[in-house]
Order: sequence, then C-alpha cells, then structure tokens
Amino acid sequence: MIEVVRESLTLPGGEIVVVRPAPGAEVPFDEVGDELLPPYWAELWPSGIALAQAVRAVPAGTRVLELGCGLGLPALAAARAGAEVLATDLSTTAITLVRRSAALNGLPLRAEALSWTDPALPAVDLVLGADLLYGHRNVVELLEVLPRLAPQVWLTDPGRPLAAEFLAAARTTWTAIRRPTTQDGVALHRLTRRTT
Ligand SMILES: C[S@@+](CC[C@H](N)C(=O)[O-])C[C@H]1O[C@@H](n2cnc3c(N)ncnc32)[C@H](O)[C@@H]1O
Repeated sequence: MIEVVRESLTLPGGEIVVVRPAPGAEVPFDEVGDELLPPYWAELWPSGIALAQAVRAVPAGTRVLELGCGLGLPALAAARAGAEVLATDLSTTAITLVRRSAALNGLPLRAEALSWTDPALPAVDLVLGADLLYGHRNVVELLEVLPRLAPQVWLTDPGRPLAAEFLAAARTTWTAIRRPTTQDGVALHRLTRRTT
C-alpha cells in the first residue's frame, strides 16, 4: 500500500478528515481490464471540495450515489448530512482509502470499486460527480448512464471545454441550473431529469 497522510478539511457541516496519499508518494496507475488508469483520484480537486460544500443542502435520508469519487470528500460530506451514500470509483486503491476515511470520521457510507458504466449501479435519488468531464469518453458514457441512475444530478466542474459539450447534449434529457461556488472557476450544475 502507498504511504498515506490524514488531511483535515473544514466544511459547512464540520471538519472531515480525509486519508490521502502522502505528498511525493509514488502512486501507481490502476490496471482496469486491459487499460491503465492514471491516478487522478489521488488529488483533492477543487471541484470535489466545492461539491462537498454544496451537499450540506441534501436532505437526510436521500439516497446518494457518487461517481468517480476519488478521495470521496463529497460522499463523506453527504453521509455527514444524513444521506444514505454509495461512493464509487474505478480505482480500488481510491475506494480502500475512502473506506478508511469513513471509518476515521465515524460515518456510515458504502464504497465500491465500480465503473459508472456498470449495470450493477443502483438507481438513487441524487447522483454526485466532481470533475468528471475531462475526456470525450467520459462525456459520452455519462450522457448515456445518468438518466437511468437518478432524477437529480449535481456536477461540479472547473470550466473544462468538454463540460460545455456535455451540458449542450444533456439539454434534451435534463434541465440545468448553474451556480458559482467558493472554489475559483468551479461551477455547480444542478440537473433535473425532464419528465416528458
Ligand atoms: C479528476 S478525478 C476527480 C476525483 C474526485 N471526484 C474529485 O473531484 O476530487 C476523476 C475520477 O474519475 C474516476 N474515473 C474515471 N473513469 C471512471 C469510470 N469509468 N468509472 C468510475 N470512475 C471513473 C477516476 O478514477 C478519478 O478518481
């Protein structure tokens, strides 16, 4: 296992401690099928921090699924708010650390190494995703899977060009509201599935 440290973050609902790779630790690529996945999960991205701040507004008891959770800060914050949370990522190492963070904070949360394309993902009330729109394949896959997964989706994004492409294509299925966040340049997109 890689060397890890604990980082404490102050969020609107209180402090959350995240277990993350130590600065300078060599984080290997994950082998997923015949692909090598870069360890993007190992960063605490500004979009993840922004989403973790926003989930304070999630009502207790909401069934929440976080996709591509990385270190899982939004999932942990949603669990702190009383939501019933499943955190997922392709990286098994990331999921191991999310479980450790949940235990450390005394938060009830399930974490599983699953792709967002996995048919085993359950339908929930709300899907969360922070900084997922950085590859064309991600955009195509998320446009396809999100309508099955939840009537509400909250995505944070630091203004990546592909996010604009995603939002334009999503208009046929979703209405979207854009909100600024405390993180420089990061927007929160709240999507609601159209009923007709
Ligand atoms: C830029 S990182 C963002 C991590 C985290 N959401 C944050 O904001 O700190 C993208 C994350 O998506 C995950 N990922 C990439 N493709 C995925 C897929 N098909 N299914 C699930 N997770 C995926 C990566 O492992 C990584 O953790």
